[in-house]
Amino acid sequence: MSTHYYTTPIYYVNDKPHIGHAYTSLATDVLARWKRLAGHEVFFLTGTDEHGQKVEKAAQDAGMDPQAFTDQVSQSFRDLAVTMGFSNDDFIRTTEPRHKAACQALWTELASRGEIYLGAYEGWYAVRDEAFYGPDELTERDGVKYAPSGAPVAWVKEPSYFFRLGKWLPELLRRYDLPEGHPERIDIAPESRRNEVKSFIQQGLKDFAETPQKLDLSISRTSFTWGVKVPGDEAHVMYVWLDALTNYITAAGYPDVSAERWKFWPADVHFVGKDIVRFHTIYWPAFLLAAGLPHARRVFAHGWWTNEGQKISKSLGNVIDPLALVEEYGLDPVRYFLLREVPFGQDGDFSKGALARRLNGELADALGNLANRTLSLIQRNCGGVLPAEAARTEADAALFASVDALVAGVEAQLDQQAFHLALETVMSAVREANGYITVQAPWALKKTDLERMNVVLRHLHTAMRAYATVLQPFMPTTMAAMLDQLGVPADQRDFASLATPVPAGTALPPPAPLFRKFEAA
Ligand code: MSP
Repeated sequence: MSTHYYTTPIYYVNDKPHIGHAYTSLATDVLARWKRLAGHEVFFLTGTDEHGQKVEKAAQDAGMDPQAFTDQVSQSFRDLAVTMGFSNDDFIRTTEPRHKAACQALWTELASRGEIYLGAYEGWYAVRDEAFYGPDELTERDGVKYAPSGAPVAWVKEPSYFFRLGKWLPELLRRYDLPEGHPERIDIAPESRRNEVKSFIQQGLKDFAETPQKLDLSISRTSFTWGVKVPGDEAHVMYVWLDALTNYITAAGYPDVSAERWKFWPADVHFVGKDIVRFHTIYWPAFLLAAGLPHARRVFAHGWWTNEGQKISKSLGNVIDPLALVEEYGLDPVRYFLLREVPFGQDGDFSKGALARRLNGELADALGNLANRTLSLIQRNCGGVLPAEAARTEADAALFASVDALVAGVEAQLDQQAFHLALETVMSAVREANGYITVQAPWALKKTDLERMNVVLRHLHTAMRAYATVLQPFMPTTMAAMLDQLGVPADQRDFASLATPVPAGTALPPPAPLFRKFEAA
């Protein structure tokens, strides 16, 4: 048994939850559930990012006090976690006292190590991104300058504390390239993101070789107040990304490193979207190294969804509401589709046509039918009682080749966050079983070879138990129902229990359909 710590980004509360939020957390949830079923101790964290100018402005626009506003929106992210079936062990809010204490402790530690100094900041700032941009990154339209993200920027000039980021950049580069498994390695995946981060730093080091302090990071603001106060200088609030990133150690008990939770740090994987990779792979490990703390082992960046081929945006009015999707298709089919359709790490398109095709073809036709056919035959031809195990013949070998390798095969994919390949591994095993049932034709064996019919049905049952067991992290409710139909006791649903067969003679309940079909749009 080992410990595993997985995190989602903490979500901005300037807006209500959408598909992007549900997606990052869903992937994290599946890995967390998997590791629990594998017998490990897991800490899965999500939460909300509630400070900064952007949230302050959203509260103003809503005519609300920022705390009341964040209380309200934060709750909608908690509700999303319930609706989506997320199994997070904690939900952190950056406005909580425990978090403010952690931020201030980290700041004090950095200051005491000489990693922070007071200066003045001048530059282009985008409130929407809560980020600074260089002049060469900007474009101008109608007299307004825009960041590459499309956010408008404004010139700000104010006193500011700086973090000595520049001096840590060479060390970060060294760590990105350490061999896999090296304790100091910062693992960035997919590979393309790692290269992107590396060349970004290399370019910076080249451009500012003469003036390395230009690579330092402004980490406080005096132009607004909605944030964590800088210890000893309350005119300043902390830069929202320093505040936000700290959440990952707050929840592990920081600054109390004797806390029970601290055993989980460093995190195994920070799940993030591709837009926030730099914050997690440059700023965050640099803050931690500077404070003498270990950094996370791995950062995985997923891609972005478009909706029926179009960029998702509020102005286009095509934001996908995860709650509406779940209402229409059911939770588990939505969970399945999101992780199955698009290789995790790449951009992908959401369309109702693709959704219906996936669900009909793989869940209703392949998996659902297999279960229904097998379990109906056991009801009809075996009196609803599970037949005994029997030796595997050569004809059974192919079926079991995929079944026996299933847990290890899926786990290897999940350890790479290759959710789509993990599901492909299970689906190819299910296709194998559908081939097996067609060739063995247990319905015909009833008249010709009753003994073989029993053996075939038993083998199919054993195979389906394995499929349902490994699919639990993806579709918890439906797979619980499938395991009920297969007569698998509730305490025998982890991976280790696959070695313990369901006893022959177990009475199985009458089967009911697990999945429904949808009109292809
Ligand atoms: N608050 C910061 C994260 C701080 S973490 C210390 C933040 N919040 S966010 O609410 O704007 O975004 C959260 C996540 O949603 C990001 O990982 C982002 O990539 C993801 N998505 C937003 N739109 C998306 C899509 N259209 N598709 C997939 N994910 C997208 O950033």
